[in-house]
Amino acid sequence: MKYFSLLPAFACVARVTAFPSYASLAGLSNRELESILPTLEYRKPALPPGPLKDTSAKLVNDKAHPWKPLRRGDIRGPCPGLNALASHGYLPRNGIATPVQIINTIQEVFNMENSLAIFLTYAAHLVDGNLITDLLSIGRKTPLTGRDPPPIVGGLNTHAVFEGDASMTRGDDFFGNNHNFNATLFDQFVDFNNRFGGGKYNLTVAAELRFKRIQDSIATNPRFSFVSPRYFTAYAESVFPINFFVDGRRNDGQLDMDAAQGFFQFSRMPKDFFRPNGTRSTEGINQVFLAHPVQPGGNVGKVNSYTLDPTSADFSTFCLLYENVVNKTIKGLYPNPTGKLRQALNTNLNFLFQGLEGLNFGCEQVFPYGQD
Ligand code: HEM
Ligand SMILES: *[C@@H]1O[C@H](CO)[C@@H](O)[C@H](O)[C@H]1NC(C)=O
Ligand SMILES: *[C@@H]1O[C@H](CO)[C@@H](O)[C@H](O)[C@H]1NC(C)=O
Ligand SMILES: *[C@@H]1O[C@H](CO)[C@@H](O)[C@H](O)[C@H]1NC(C)=O
Ligand SMILES: *[C@@H]1O[C@H](CO)[C@@H](O)[C@H](O)[C@H]1NC(C)=O
Repeated sequence: MKYFSLLPAFACVARVTAFPSYASLAGLSNRELESILPTLEYRKPALPPGPLKDTSAKLVNDKAHPWKPLRRGDIRGPCPGLNALASHGYLPRNGIATPVQIINTIQEVFNMENSLAIFLTYAAHLVDGNLITDLLSIGRKTPLTGRDPPPIVGGLNTHAVFEGDASMTRGDDFFGNNHNFNATLFDQFVDFNNRFGGGKYNLTVAAELRFKRIQDSIATNPRFSFVSPRYFTAYAESVFPINFFVDGRRNDGQLDMDAAQGFFQFSRMPKDFFRPNGTRSTEGINQVFLAHPVQPGGNVGKVNSYTLDPTSADFSTFCLLYENVVNKTIKGLYPNPTGKLRQALNTNLNFLFQGLEGLNFGCEQVFPYGQD
């Protein structure tokens, strides 16, 4: 098989050729799947957890979950929420987790509402995770030597299936690093807090900075893409710091800069951090959108060429987001699955739909691989 044969002959074969248990199988050919699948241990996906019984505010930066610096090999990625969960040992500190671990901890630590937690987690896992081992890397994709073009091998850093452009503190993939904290972008974040939030990040700042990051990308990134699903996650992620990173004893929707820097740069919760008081979801997203209602689109190969894409889902067609993710993205990554892989796809697609149903948009389930 090409991927194995191109490795240098002197490489430590056993170490280098093992397909990582957390790398996604998306986009691999049938021949590649035939040689990789037998090397992976199948783990039947566990059912998604239900809602928390007690959602009151409580100390979550506690003695049992101290922040620790990264060890060599630990994976972090573009999401400051998941990064913090790993750096406090709520998720495995190496940054590789199961969907159930992710749902449990984003509920326990950030009080994310159950349906949104389920929907987001399976949306990411289906495109970036390993559906056979049931593991997802919260960051890097695994480099496969010698392939051109490289296949999508998963991890949340993977561009364009979940991760996307115009993040607040991470650069666009086009510029070479879509996942590390970028100090220049954080300076802009601070500047916007000072100009629009009296030094704090609140919904007024969120609306202005979201628009600014879109304008930045239009003006500098010839390949800027701002269509579904990124279109939705960009607006959602603009309100997450307000909904999830503000201490639950304050609950005032104003995030101070030290707390923001801790999460964004260091994957660290503030000292004595209390989770929000009651569950949170995407509250405030309409306010952010309506302040500057940009429609889905992208640049078309040169800067300042933003062109609307009427085929993209938008805020009035949320079910189309779901159908496109399933019919186009996931089906495109896995055109022809069989056996355990098809079974795992269907199970995870059912979980995704379970989350979507709970969000109450009245969407109908689609079945790209049949219904058994
Ligand atoms: C309560 C839980 C969560 C919080 C507080 C949170 C917070 C955030 C925030 C604030 C960003 C924006 C970063 C920026 O613009 O600089 C972000 C990005 C991201 N989050 Fe999360 N997130 C949460 C859950 C999740 C889950 C469950 C997943 C997937 C399993 C996820 C995956 C991502 C990814 C891939 C990005 C990068 C988006 C991009 O740059 O294109 N997050 N998250
Ligand atoms: C951070 O972002 C700025 C502004 O987009 C960019 O010019 C710079 O190259 C980025 N820095 C790194 C280290 O990627
Ligand atoms: C954000 O902070 C600024 C400055 O204090 C204030 O004028 C604005 O009303 C705040 N916005 C929200 C939504 O709290
Ligand atoms: C959480 O909210 C409840 C009312 O919904 C209130 O009784 C309680 O004091 C709040 N807890 C904190 C820590 O603010
Ligand atoms: C998705 O596929 C289903 C059939 O599996 C079809 O009924 C539905 O119209 C498709 N939706 C989109 C948006 O392609």
